[in-house]
Amino acid sequence: MAEIIFKTENVIKQYRKFDVSTFRYETYDALNDFNMEIHKGDIYGFVGKNGAGKTTLIRLLAGLVQQTDGTVELFSESVSDKLYLQRYRINGFIEKPALNSALTAQDNLKICCLQRGLEYTNCINEVLEESGLSQFDIKNVKVRNFSLGMKQRLGIAMALLGKPELLFLDEPLNGLDPEGIRDFRKLIKKLHQEYGTTILISSHQLRELTQVATCYGFIHKGKMLEQISAEDLKRKIDSEDLEEYFISLINKKQ
Ligand SMILES: Nc1ncnc2c1ncn2[C@@H]1O[C@H](COP(=O)(O)OP(=O)(O)O)[C@@H](O)[C@H]1O
Ligand SMILES: [Mg+2]
Repeated sequence: MAEIIFKTENVIKQYRKFDVSTFRYETYDALNDFNMEIHKGDIYGFVGKNGAGKTTLIRLLAGLVQQTDGTVELFSESVSDKLYLQRYRINGFIEKPALNSALTAQDNLKICCLQRGLEYTNCINEVLEESGLSQFDIKNVKVRNFSLGMKQRLGIAMALLGKPELLFLDEPLNGLDPEGIRDFRKLIKKLHQEYGTTILISSHQLRELTQVATCYGFIHKGKMLEQISAEDLKRKIDSEDLEEYFISLINKKQ
């Protein structure tokens, strides 16, 4: 079995939510005793309904929120002063890419390079090529004039800067047209095959996920229902109907 790159053990993440009926803040478990393992080389399809806790988990991975309880381990480091250094080895975007709409794609990428301490001479053209943005004439176009799909491609380009060992993409297919989805699929396969990148993808588009994922994690109401390899899943179900399988898992728990 390949090395574990990211692991959570019995993680609880609580948020405080204002309850209008009681007029008080109540605690809410967005992640509840949550266990997950991502191995080196996985293309991990992260599946769950809206509000299941997918984005919360990815925020935890990226260091944007802290768990209330439990352990988070990245590249075998779990103590916070060592863990943060490991975050230089990962990149991605959460919900939607953070873009400066008053700048061009190139300038957005330059800023990211500066933030990450990267030399930008070659890598900007490389990621523009890989994300498929170079096919558009965007040299002097500000991001505010980009289509949703082009913004999404720019987010992917930004996430690829510095060749992360672990790439996290939260709902990356949102806003992509069929051509964009096809290019995305090709890119994921290329990153996986050529650079051995480990990739975490959360998506509602389960049919698309089955085209690329090597394993799945099913999350429901903050709990991990099951983690399963694509091979084992194929043995369990005749068709690759991930939706049916996910619904059956939820029903079993209820
Ligand atoms: N900052 C926050 N404050 C309070 N509640 C939050 C916050 N972020 C997320 N939540 C709640 O946590 C739950 C999980 O949300 P999220 O992780 O965004 O789920 P998903 O990405 O699967 O749709 C939801 O009920 C959401 O309303
Ligand atoms: Mg989300």
